[in-house]
Amino acid sequence: MKKILKPFPEGFLWGGATAANQIEGAFDVDGKGLSTSDMVAYVDPYASGKVDNFTFDVTSEKLEMYLSHPEKYSFPKRWGIDFYHHYKEDIALFAEMGFKTFRLSISWPRIFPTGEETVPNEAGLAFYDAVFDECLKYGIKPLVTLSHYEMPIQLVQKYNGWMSRELIDLFLKYTETVFKRYKDKVKLWLTFNEMNMNLTSIYTGAGVLADEMENPKSVAYQASHHQFIASALTVGQCHKIIPDAQIGCMINRIETYAETTKPEDQLQALRADSINLFYPDVQVRGTYPKFMLRYFEENNIEIKMAPGDMEILANPENRVDFIAFSYYMTHVTHASEDADELSGRLDSPIKNPYLKLTDWDWPIDPIGLRITLNKLYNRYQLPLFPVENGLGAKDELVDNAVHDDYRIEYLREHVRAIQEAITDGVEVMGYTPWGCIDLISCGTSQMRKRYGLIYVDQDDSGEGTLKRYRKDSFYWYKKVIETNGAIL
Ligand code: BG6
Repeated sequence: MKKILKPFPEGFLWGGATAANQIEGAFDVDGKGLSTSDMVAYVDPYASGKVDNFTFDVTSEKLEMYLSHPEKYSFPKRWGIDFYHHYKEDIALFAEMGFKTFRLSISWPRIFPTGEETVPNEAGLAFYDAVFDECLKYGIKPLVTLSHYEMPIQLVQKYNGWMSRELIDLFLKYTETVFKRYKDKVKLWLTFNEMNMNLTSIYTGAGVLADEMENPKSVAYQASHHQFIASALTVGQCHKIIPDAQIGCMINRIETYAETTKPEDQLQALRADSINLFYPDVQVRGTYPKFMLRYFEENNIEIKMAPGDMEILANPENRVDFIAFSYYMTHVTHASEDADELSGRLDSPIKNPYLKLTDWDWPIDPIGLRITLNKLYNRYQLPLFPVENGLGAKDELVDNAVHDDYRIEYLREHVRAIQEAITDGVEVMGYTPWGCIDLISCGTSQMRKRYGLIYVDQDDSGEGTLKRYRKDSFYWYKKVIETNGAIL
């Protein structure tokens, strides 16, 4: 059999991805309010002798301590990489690589500091104006996530985050404000980042305090329901205010393999996969899939819905235009594992002997990306956009250089997998590797877990010159973009 690979389509959106809470810093500058991510303290993952990928949930007791004695803790997401003051330099570096798009998020508390103001914070709005102008100056299209793991902390204290329906209107006020303000500058939008992370980290995903849950699954699905409604109405708003924009949903996509050919294991893998796909199912098809109704009943999950909710979801105007997802790994499961817990988990409890691991024990599986692209396209027939993918590694800066051939290999294999999927007939809009510039890790709040093509001189405690350096992967990616993927 001969192998013929299709070229990447004209206009393929090569770029990179970030989130406000992991890059901006300036957490209390120009009127910004405190956010949920400003309240995630650094916990030394090495103190316990192992790297813990999940140090980010906050309980009511912790929140109280962090608010009353911030001086006792270190909060890396408060300083990020100071993109707030370096955005011109950073965007110039993205432009040098030839980026066609740059994924970033807007910090809700920079626009509405407590979430409840009636008038937005002009300085916050002006900051994003300047950032978008800077991108457009180089022909880079901003791809904007409206909610990436942060919200005003007052909404946690007053409403327990997305557990309350009040959040829907507060969120819509914020989204309407930014749609109206940036309608001429931003044509690519995402609603919530990785909504399925609510099943893994409810504070991060939905601003719900982790200890205030009798039935954690019920809480996660209730908060998700409110976000589904908010997301659907946001999509409708966007279609109305910016008719030539495209707006997508975004999930943490995890393909799950069965450990053996035993039918029970296969069934469990299907179940885990279905739970992961539940999130795009609702946002693309506009209804709750039937398999989840059985699941809710058997798990005592009761979702409170308001009259009209189902109509909101079903309205074609409120359905997403494309599906964005992050792709870092695949999972393995078998019949006796509680596969319901898997969706969104950023580790794989059962090891796949065929895959190598990253420095943080994440399985590396480029073929899984091709499988997932095919699966999503077969299921939804909508354009797909892998908006996060990358290698978190311990890089070393030596003589102003970082020789990250391991990252080049990782990215090359994943880009190839995308090209294979395109050749299979899948519609792929672009590719934005995560952390195109080193940033604060979401899961561990470390700086040393670096994804970037650009090195930032800063350590876990926030010490460093903040100087930016081009890594070897920077030059490699530049070539990839220049040749539209012909040279990998
Ligand atoms: C995704 C998140 O789940 O994974 C990002 O959307 C995050 O915010 C990325 O940074 C990588 O995870 P981590 O824990 O290595 O930063």
